[in-house]
Amino acid sequence: MRIVSGVQPTGNLHLGNYLGAIRNWVRMQDDLDQDSECLFFLADMHAISMPHDPAELRKGTLEMAAALIACGIDPTRSILFNQAQVPQHAELQWLLTGTARMGWLNRMTQWKDKAGKNREGASVALFSYPVLQAADVLLYQTTHVPVGEDQKQHLELARDIAQKFNNDFCTEDAPLFTLPDPYIPPQAARIMSLRDGSKKMSKSDPSEMSRIELADDADTIMKKVKKAKSDPDALPSEVAGLEDRPEALNLVTIYAALAGQSAEEVLATFGGQGFGAFKPALGELMVETLAPISSRFRELVGDREALDAILARGAALARERAVPTLAATYDALGLVRG
Ligand code: TYM
Repeated sequence: MRIVSGVQPTGNLHLGNYLGAIRNWVRMQDDLDQDSECLFFLADMHAISMPHDPAELRKGTLEMAAALIACGIDPTRSILFNQAQVPQHAELQWLLTGTARMGWLNRMTQWKDKAGKNREGASVALFSYPVLQAADVLLYQTTHVPVGEDQKQHLELARDIAQKFNNDFCTEDAPLFTLPDPYIPPQAARIMSLRDGSKKMSKSDPSEMSRIELADDADTIMKKVKKAKSDPDALPSEVAGLEDRPEALNLVTIYAALAGQSAEEVLATFGGQGFGAFKPALGELMVETLAPISSRFRELVGDREALDAILARGAALARERAVPTLAATYDALGLVRG
């Protein structure tokens, strides 16, 4: 098994990232057998697809490395690196742009959402973003990609690219690329904004009240939960009663994911109670889960040299693993390299 996934080092890690993806990275790392390997990376090359501040990106990359380690990624067991130190990602992306179709990229919802009405003014990087993401995964012959629901479409595209490349340039008995399987958790795959149950929790939401960040202190967490949008009704005793109550469903989902329970179990405890009782219990559970992560984050984030060394070491290991597939791709395309 080879497990690969990434996170953009823009903004702070939030509860959606943690419950939808990072927590599963840690679980997969911890359950790994001897023949398997995990590679986790900071998608800094993706971060330049939107307007950005270079100083912020530099700082954010190290901070995100610290945050992942604080969440439980162990850089002695998993390979932790940033894309910019493994140029094979960008090289493979270019090679795959010959296979990816404009029509496929045009259909990507992230492209449509982020470019909005101003497609002419969007960067080329934003359009070809999913090809780099395909390269991230295909470069390592990845079998499993733990992600939240919002990345599903990008991973389907990675499979389409791999399949078309294998068909066009390989013999049937010797395909070059492994088709990666997304691992999307059954619960918490899409955590919604605390201000609007129809929008996902996101680093780019201008309102900080819409998300819980892993580095938030206890007071901030309790305040954000208290102010979270809900409704005046009591919680139902059955999940069916949460239909058409997106904010209520989201808060119950978060509670369930943090407590390691099903939504039914949460409602068995809280059914019949209003948000005045449920919200403080949810806030406390968040504080309990996040406090050890944020204190570990604060310890790690000051040691810039140690973080640099971790990323450099991870990148060296990633480059070693990337070289054979990249060389085979050049070769399959008939590109002469001496
Ligand atoms: P990014 O940085 O937006 O998010 C990192 C991970 O967090 C998940 N996630 C969520 N899960 C549940 N609820 C939410 N509200 C929520 N918000 C974010 C995302 O699904 C993701 O798993 N394009 C990717 C980074 C990337 C990547 C890759 C991922 C680049 N190359 C290759 C996998 C494989 C991104 O921007 O994730």
